[in-house]
Amino acid sequence: MADKIRVAVVGAGRWSRDAHLPGYYRSPLAELVAICDVDREKAEERARQFEIPEVLTDYHDLLHRTDIDVIDVCTREEHEPLVFDVINAGKHCLVEKPVAHRAEDVRRAQAIAESKGLKTKVGLTFRYAPAMQYMYQLVQDGFIGRPLVFNGYEQNSQWLDPDNPADKRIHKTPPDNDAVGGWSPKPEEITVHSLEGYGAPIIDISMMLTGSQVTEVVGRLKNLIPMRRRTNLDTQREPINMDDADIYICEFANGAFGSIQTSYVTVGNYPGIEARIYGEKGALICRLVDEFGECETLHAARPDAVEFQRMEIPEKFFPHGYRPGEPWPSLFYANLVHNFMEEVAGIRSENQGNFAQSAKVQEIINAVEASHRTRSWVQLGNQEA
Ligand SMILES: NC(=O)c1ccc[n+]([C@@H]2O[C@H](COP(=O)([O-])OP(=O)(O)OC[C@H]3O[C@@H](n4cnc5c(N)ncnc54)[C@H](O)[C@@H]3O)[C@@H](O)[C@H]2O)c1
Repeated sequence: MADKIRVAVVGAGRWSRDAHLPGYYRSPLAELVAICDVDREKAEERARQFEIPEVLTDYHDLLHRTDIDVIDVCTREEHEPLVFDVINAGKHCLVEKPVAHRAEDVRRAQAIAESKGLKTKVGLTFRYAPAMQYMYQLVQDGFIGRPLVFNGYEQNSQWLDPDNPADKRIHKTPPDNDAVGGWSPKPEEITVHSLEGYGAPIIDISMMLTGSQVTEVVGRLKNLIPMRRRTNLDTQREPINMDDADIYICEFANGAFGSIQTSYVTVGNYPGIEARIYGEKGALICRLVDEFGECETLHAARPDAVEFQRMEIPEKFFPHGYRPGEPWPSLFYANLVHNFMEEVAGIRSENQGNFAQSAKVQEIINAVEASHRTRSWVQLGNQEA
């Protein structure tokens, strides 16, 4: 490996611009060597913004290059085929969630990566927020003692307006693929949407903070806004039966229990995360909600001081080049990307938020969907604490 880790990014859209590329640009361990997008103009614009020397339109041309260590997948469509191509080519891989829609496929990808000694990471953004990383350290240091209850939320009002199209992509001609689903109006055939898109990061955090695995779930998916524009080209609303709100409760192997609620039709600002952990010795509440110029807060209480007090987040949890008031996508993602660079460089021995963790998250998403469809509790395979 060269002095710096050489990175190529596939996908030059909004999230690439606001989170991935700024993360590599400011990490002292990374060197951006190529940007790839089927839309050359977009890729060229990003190349100018982030001083990237090479622009490509076909990611296959990156796979067998010996001057690239990491391929980052930040496309909007299915990530799965790209991920398998990247790891089969022997490149470390960072990919946006979901890696794949079925947990067994994520596990298959993890097995290939492990067999080749590759590091993986998934865009489980919110575990990397400075306030959340501090919360995690406090939990590990024993602040809450034995964890008893976890409550998690990821919700905001992104799609409360039914004229906001279900398909986020900007189309110039009508798309011929089914990026959204929700074609069947039957309540029992609702398409999973918020649970996967919004649920993944808070589900990840629930396991991180309880230090345990989910053993059983029961949940419901809801379609609260049934009529919506399908794409930016549609002028009329139509029935789209997709999960825009969901709630589940779960048991953890270590005896803790919890609840998670996700929705994008609930009033509130981005990103709309709240994680609460209650233990025998204390409780912590972390909010990642952009409000009045602040995007993260952490509050703590103890049995003998039950009024929650705001905690100061130590400097060491902030990324290189942190500027007070900087937008949350670049702030949280700078930590994620630099953490990955340290893992690839071998500076950190663990590989947090990787495909293995993502497979556990996906297993919970699949189980909550099954619970909804069968109207029953669903057990998960992984029983160890
Ligand atoms: N982790 C988070 O908090 C978070 C937040 C926002 C978005 N995301 C995820 O990030 C991903 C990208 O979202 P976005 O808003 O940037 O989407 P976008 O539509 O703005 O950009 C995606 C880009 O990928 C390009 N693309 C698609 N297929 C390609 C291919 N095969 N090869 C090369 N380029 C290809 C498209 O042309 C487009 O420019 C999505 O998976 C989204 O869910 C994650």
